[in-house]
Amino acid sequence: MRILSGIQPSGALHLGNYFGMMKPAIELQDRGEAFYFIADYHSMTSLFDAEARRRNTLEVALDFLACGLDPNKAVFFRQSDVPEVCELTWLLGTVTPMGLLERCHSYKDKVAKGLPVNLGLFAYPVLMAADILIYDSNLVPVGQDQKQHVEVTRDIAIKFNQQYGQTFVIPEAEIRENVAKVPGTDGEKMSKSYGNTIEIFGDEKVLRKKVMSIKMDSRTPEEPKPDADRNLAIQLMKLVAPPDVAREYEERLRAGGLGYGDLKKALFEHYWNYFAEARRRRAELAANLDFVESVLRQGAAKARAKAREVLQRARRACGLD
Ligand code: ADP
Ligand code: TRP
Repeated sequence: MRILSGIQPSGALHLGNYFGMMKPAIELQDRGEAFYFIADYHSMTSLFDAEARRRNTLEVALDFLACGLDPNKAVFFRQSDVPEVCELTWLLGTVTPMGLLERCHSYKDKVAKGLPVNLGLFAYPVLMAADILIYDSNLVPVGQDQKQHVEVTRDIAIKFNQQYGQTFVIPEAEIRENVAKVPGTDGEKMSKSYGNTIEIFGDEKVLRKKVMSIKMDSRTPEEPKPDADRNLAIQLMKLVAPPDVAREYEERLRAGGLGYGDLKKALFEHYWNYFAEARRRRAELAANLDFVESVLRQGAAKARAKAREVLQRARRACGLD
């Protein structure tokens, strides 16, 4: 079974990225042949600073390896080291109805916000389809917000197969329901673009401040809170603390007597602990960038061999041979 996922190098990775995509992806590396990549081509649709792209790409590589991506199990590479995906994007684009792309939330949201949109942004799901189809992927672990893009990929693959004969494997999204949407400090979906993130790695003081800024209501500590399960700190606690500890805090909050400040302090300690080992590994990796670069290069060579095979199959199917 081929498992595939990608993540854009558009800024420091946060708890939403970790629990929504990276952790499931890392767990799946034992269940099949995993291909994970840094989507630097995709980042070009919204990041226009070359140096930032280089820096972010390296940061994502460090973050992912530190969190447990094992290069002996998974193939890890930069998207742009496999330029074959761009050719496949063209082939797929010719069987993609405009309406399918016009319906995509990610594109519609940007238009609704009045942001400048470019052809790359509109065609983003077609490049993503090429990423998935070019490796004969079966399973795509992503967060809820990417589900539609995997559905578009399926539609495009089915359309191409109908038009030109059986060529592509039809992939499926794998979405963890309990972490489908990790909330940010303001209660909205945690996202770089909302400024409500808690990063996986970073300065302790800055991150403590972010945790302490998680939005609460104005009820007194003594008041019982029957809606304790909806409390943002409790929701995050369930991700980073052992289940019995998280349950205990939820019960204490429900019963009344636990102040929000104390709850958030406890949350910070569990979060900081949760990533202690990863932080240590990250520091080691940061001191050995040649190793990180060699992982990405070797990963690209493996990915590229597979990509060439599938692209050749697609070219033949549509008469480009
Ligand atoms: P952002 O919203 O911060 O820009 P991305 O869109 O780059 O994050 O998402 C990268 C991956 O992380 C995707 O698979 C996405 O579904 C997942 N992800 C991002 N934010 C969250 C979240 N708050 N909860 C769950 N998964 C998330
Ligand atoms: N669009 C994804 C995101 O922003 C990143 C991505 C690009 C991806 N290509 C992919 C994810 C292929 C899964 C499969 O999160």
